[in-house]
Amino acid sequence: MASRTCLAIVLAAGEGTRMRSSLPKVLHAIGGRTLLAHVLDAATRAGGADIAVVVGPDATAVANEARSRAPQANIFEQSERLGTAHAVLSARAALAQGADDILVMFADTPLIRSETLASLRAALAGGAGVAVLGFTPADPNGYGRLVMHGDELVAIVEEKDASDDERKITFCNGGLMALSGRHALAMLERIGNANAKGEFYLTDAVAIARDMGLTAKAIETSEDDVRGINTKAQLAEAEAVLQKRLRDAAMEAGVTLVAPETVFLSADTRLGKDVTIEPNVVFGPGVTVDDGAVIRSFSHLEGAHVGKGARVGPYARLRPGADLGTDVHIGNFVEVKAATIEDGAKANHLAYIGDARVGAGANIGAGTITCNYDGVAKHRTDIGAGAFIGSNSLLVAPVKIGDGSYIGSGSVITQDVPPESLAIARGEQMVKEGWAKRLRQVRSLGKSLGKGLGKGPGKDAASKPKSS
Ligand code: UD1
Ligand code: CA
Repeated sequence: MASRTCLAIVLAAGEGTRMRSSLPKVLHAIGGRTLLAHVLDAATRAGGADIAVVVGPDATAVANEARSRAPQANIFEQSERLGTAHAVLSARAALAQGADDILVMFADTPLIRSETLASLRAALAGGAGVAVLGFTPADPNGYGRLVMHGDELVAIVEEKDASDDERKITFCNGGLMALSGRHALAMLERIGNANAKGEFYLTDAVAIARDMGLTAKAIETSEDDVRGINTKAQLAEAEAVLQKRLRDAAMEAGVTLVAPETVFLSADTRLGKDVTIEPNVVFGPGVTVDDGAVIRSFSHLEGAHVGKGARVGPYARLRPGADLGTDVHIGNFVEVKAATIEDGAKANHLAYIGDARVGAGANIGAGTITCNYDGVAKHRTDIGAGAFIGSNSLLVAPVKIGDGSYIGSGSVITQDVPPESLAIARGEQMVKEGWAKRLRQVRSLGKSLGKGLGKGPGKDAASKPKSS
């Protein structure tokens, strides 16, 4: 089968009005990736080297997403929404290239697995003219019904056109299908629109194929595989299915998820062996965690790399460009953005490290802030290996702290510090010996004077304003 060529045609011309959103339906995301991108990825993995995406009029954003996800994709516009077969024929120029297998996919059906697509292609390789995905939904309402004769698929009847008997069929059309490339154009061109909706139904390809002496097959799959998304509620259901798949795959690969149902992964999250994820952790797109690292509860990671054996959280935030080396510790209420934290460095509490490098083994005290933004531009902070940044220090970028240097707690550092030095930049301490004792004496003198005037200290305290 590897030698058979394949064209995947992805239909994305739907309007998606039921999402009640200004964002086109197929640009909504699950697992941190758009619905369209999921479908394009599945097509690519199933061997769809050639991809055609059919978009509606004025769908620049959809076309751009398709191009960025699958640069080889050709975009076709369906100017009028006249049905699924009409949509496929909008990609006529791609069809005419004569691929062996044509996969027709729906951009709003993102959970389709590449294995399922491969089984459709295998049916074509086995001689079928058309192969469709069949499933038995909990509620068959609204789906096309598969009319079977033993092993053979005879026809697909859309619900609106079905007889009472046909409506009782519970084996339904999942929507996506595969067509033999050699016959696809001929089949599609014979499809008419004499039906209840007046649309050109792709599903008619089955009866037409049989009429042309070809066979049609139904490949059974799960409802999840062909789950289409029309509403925000269905988007959330699909997210749940995807999350379950991602968590299961992570655990299968050796990741410990203490409470899997509370961990949210992205489709591209990469977790190494013996990584432990505590409850309530969120992975946005673009995160890689190397072997043996621990991500503690309530941490949020996005566009970040966590090195081997590193510890993150609880309550840590890693933003895009956070790159943690081996055995780095990032503790509670620490935010890291666009910063490289080299091997063994630690920032254990309450810090912001942005646009920075923290050298190997450096220690960042609680309350340290890299002041990276001057209101106009961002600037870098460079902290050398083995440096020790005292608590509550402000490092006003651009600034460089040399290897092995110390910064006194509470400093506001505005100038570079050479290696192996101590920098202190804070008000000098003043001590007035005996001052407190004298204060108390003055106060007690005042109180006893007040008593002499007949005012009790208790009543006095209650009636006085708080500022006393
Ligand atoms: C389709 C199937 C039905 C199946 C169901 C599974 C047909 C005729 N019917 O019905 O048998 O049970 O899917 O979910 O195929 N689209 C376009 N241009 C068009 C029309 C549709 O791009 O002119 C796209 C839509 O954006 C969508 C997909 O094709 O992604 C399916 O169209 P839709 O109208 O949702 O078909 P269903 O009525 O759900
Ligand atoms: Ca649909």
